[in-house]
Amino acid sequence: MAEATQLSLFDETPGENPSLRGGISSLHFADLGTFKDSMRAPIHSWFRYPAGYSYRFVDMLFAECGIGRGDWVYDPFSGTGTTLVCAKQRGFNAYGVEAHSFVHWVADVKLFWEYDFAVLRRELERLLLQCRNFLKRPIDDGGIQGIFPELIYKCYHLQDLKELYLLREFITHEVGDVHIQNILKLALTDTLRNAAAAGTGWPYIAPNKNTGDKPPKKAAILFEDTVWKMYRDLASITRNRFDCEVRNILGDSRQKQLLENDQVALALTSPPYLNNYDYADRTRLETYFWGITKTWKDITEQFRNKLIVAATTQVIRSQHNVETVLSEEIKLIAPEVYQTIQRAVLELSLRRRNKGGKKDYDLMTALYFNDMLPVIRETYRILRPGGKFFMVLGDSAPYGVHIATETLIGRLGLAIGFSTTEYIEFRIRGKKWKDNPQRHDVPLREGAVILTK
Ligand SMILES: C[S@@+](CC[C@H](N)C(=O)[O-])C[C@H]1O[C@@H](n2cnc3c(N)ncnc32)[C@H](O)[C@@H]1O
Repeated sequence: MAEATQLSLFDETPGENPSLRGGISSLHFADLGTFKDSMRAPIHSWFRYPAGYSYRFVDMLFAECGIGRGDWVYDPFSGTGTTLVCAKQRGFNAYGVEAHSFVHWVADVKLFWEYDFAVLRRELERLLLQCRNFLKRPIDDGGIQGIFPELIYKCYHLQDLKELYLLREFITHEVGDVHIQNILKLALTDTLRNAAAAGTGWPYIAPNKNTGDKPPKKAAILFEDTVWKMYRDLASITRNRFDCEVRNILGDSRQKQLLENDQVALALTSPPYLNNYDYADRTRLETYFWGITKTWKDITEQFRNKLIVAATTQVIRSQHNVETVLSEEIKLIAPEVYQTIQRAVLELSLRRRNKGGKKDYDLMTALYFNDMLPVIRETYRILRPGGKFFMVLGDSAPYGVHIATETLIGRLGLAIGFSTTEYIEFRIRGKKWKDNPQRHDVPLREGAVILTK
């Protein structure tokens, strides 16, 4: 096991919220921060986003906080739209911000329900018939060479990749209506991982798991099944439609949003954790397939550079100095928090010297808190007095240095003006790596930080 250090934090640990725990005791408490429930729910399941959280958590908070028609809810890291979909289902106004354009597009598709369902059904039947004929087009083995980045060829049985390619061409060139095109595009996007012969789990694609001897997955059949599942979801979930405004913003939650002071009744989100997951890389398979990106550089320019820093792949060492990187503003408003983070940054900088990978965990940690500060401040501005801001968060221990993200974020909230901070634990994390000798043995947890304005 790597050596672990618990840096001392503050005297008191923020308390739990007993009423909230009581309110959700009958649910699968441990899974509230994960996408498990959402993968079984209509609409939510249209794209497997392991960074997503449970729709049950959102519904529970709406009830717990007494959100009603006309109220606004805010999600500064809205991802694939879990919060926004729940709000639209219940008729609440919602405003979400997502900086990753592909992930934002997924949420956009999940949020468009304004179809005439008889027409939609007829159109899908017609298009899928036309598509079956399109798939009969002859295409020799060399015909799809050079179209995709190499990774894509390594992930599929050739027969499946030909079908996926023809489906892509059909959807791109033969479908006129933009909303129906989006349904088909998202269905094919979802099919990509189900049809892969390689390992496509979180966080990285594993092409070496494609040994070539697995049978084809029948991509076209998977695709059609997905389209009809989406149709059934839409037809069922949108039976009760309410008047409300749901805004899915492609933007940066560190910036000022188009919401008035005190406009929001409830803010809830799951920010990136300080755990070195590269969100930009999560959609590499999808964006390579659709031709949106071709290289690491494309992914950096289109996505990585736009996100708050939570991974070492986002850090350019030459641009920073460990002594001064942590924000002066944090030092000014929360000197204790500054000291705690800075101590961790310096310790990480020391440990880095003796580690083979030379990971920039030190800078990543400072930049993470620098980035979270304006997000918390903006949320405070738009939240109404008495309103709550829930953040599902985990702590972390890069190179074995424990960073109590949830405590530090709570303290930053107090420094910005929130009147209280609480923490409610969902589960202990990291058990699946317990046998990895490279890994530290610091117990990690996941839960919700609750700030009250
Ligand atoms: C933990 S995920 C949230 C997932 C969401 N709760 C869901 O269920 O899909 C965090 C999200 O924050 C996004 N993000 C990172 N930096 C951002 C920024 N500056 N502004 C807005 N979104 C950002 C990431 O792309 C990622 O989708």
